[in-house]
Amino acid sequence: MAISLFITLSMAFVACNAQENRTYRTVCYVEGWTHWRDEPNKFETNDIDSNLCTHVVWNHGELNSTLNIVVHDNGDEDIYRSLTGLKSDAPELKVLLDIGGWPVGSEEFTKIVATPAARQAFADEAVAYLRRFNFDGTTMMETFEAEVTGSTTPRLLLVAGITANSWQIGQSFEVTEMAKTVDWLDVRAFDLHGPWEGALRHHSTLFSPTADTSDSIDHMIQLIVNDNVPKEKIDLGIPLFGHTLTLTDPTNTDLGAPIANSQETVNYYEVRA
Ligand SMILES: *[C@@H]1O[C@H](CO)[C@@H](O)[C@H](O)[C@H]1NC(C)=O
Ligand SMILES: *[C@@H]1O[C@H](CO)[C@@H](O)[C@H](O)[C@H]1NC(C)=O
Repeated sequence: MAISLFITLSMAFVACNAQENRTYRTVCYVEGWTHWRDEPNKFETNDIDSNLCTHVVWNHGELNSTLNIVVHDNGDEDIYRSLTGLKSDAPELKVLLDIGGWPVGSEEFTKIVATPAARQAFADEAVAYLRRFNFDGTTMMETFEAEVTGSTTPRLLLVAGITANSWQIGQSFEVTEMAKTVDWLDVRAFDLHGPWEGALRHHSTLFSPTADTSDSIDHMIQLIVNDNVPKEKIDLGIPLFGHTLTLTDPTNTDLGAPIANSQETVNYYEVRA
């Protein structure tokens, strides 16, 4: 079982297994837009403490309509090189590229999974792209069985990002089957509730504050474990960012209180400030 810490500037996943010999993954998840911020909120590659992380995931690369992997922003290729360059000082560090992310809808992925030929073409594309920038693997909200072995280079890591929303997992993911293929499942336990619901809720509830125990990360992880996913293949992503919400009635601050349909994101250090 693993814990992942998600902060806007860097999100970490920590994994430990239930064996006597524990191995931990501390996966730091870096949002690509953080380097666009103004000081003092700017966060760049050289702000990453590679000693804190066993893995760094950069969010994210995208797909174009011909199913090639492309950068989100001009200049991201330079960031890729400086990210994977962190390995020269931290040889054990693994750097992964998240492919997908919110700007890439499911349409392109649907095309990829449609036929074996399309899956193979995408696997070839992904391996070539990741190798070109010296990445060690990829995380994706969708995954493919890919021949990612090489004779001289270590195998690339393949990680599946899944939501911690049990309804969506039931609709979208076969976790038992996925766990056989991927190195681990990255359970993204954030934004489970939001202003679109019109009611004040925690967006990342470890245990449910209400009688509905299914509304919790704890419940979700139990479901995944009950689906025979080995615990050492589960990383729990914990957000260290927060959201600000606007109460419709400023005097009603209870859970479930009406809220406007908008939110801002604040960083861990901004919450503390
Ligand atoms: C733990 O690691 C040690 C040293 O590698 C090994 O001898 C031992 O069998 C391992 N124990 C378990 C439960 O895997
Ligand atoms: C997608 O990206 C690839 C690689 O950069 C490029 O060769 C291809 O022309 C692009 N496709 C479209 C439709 O822009």
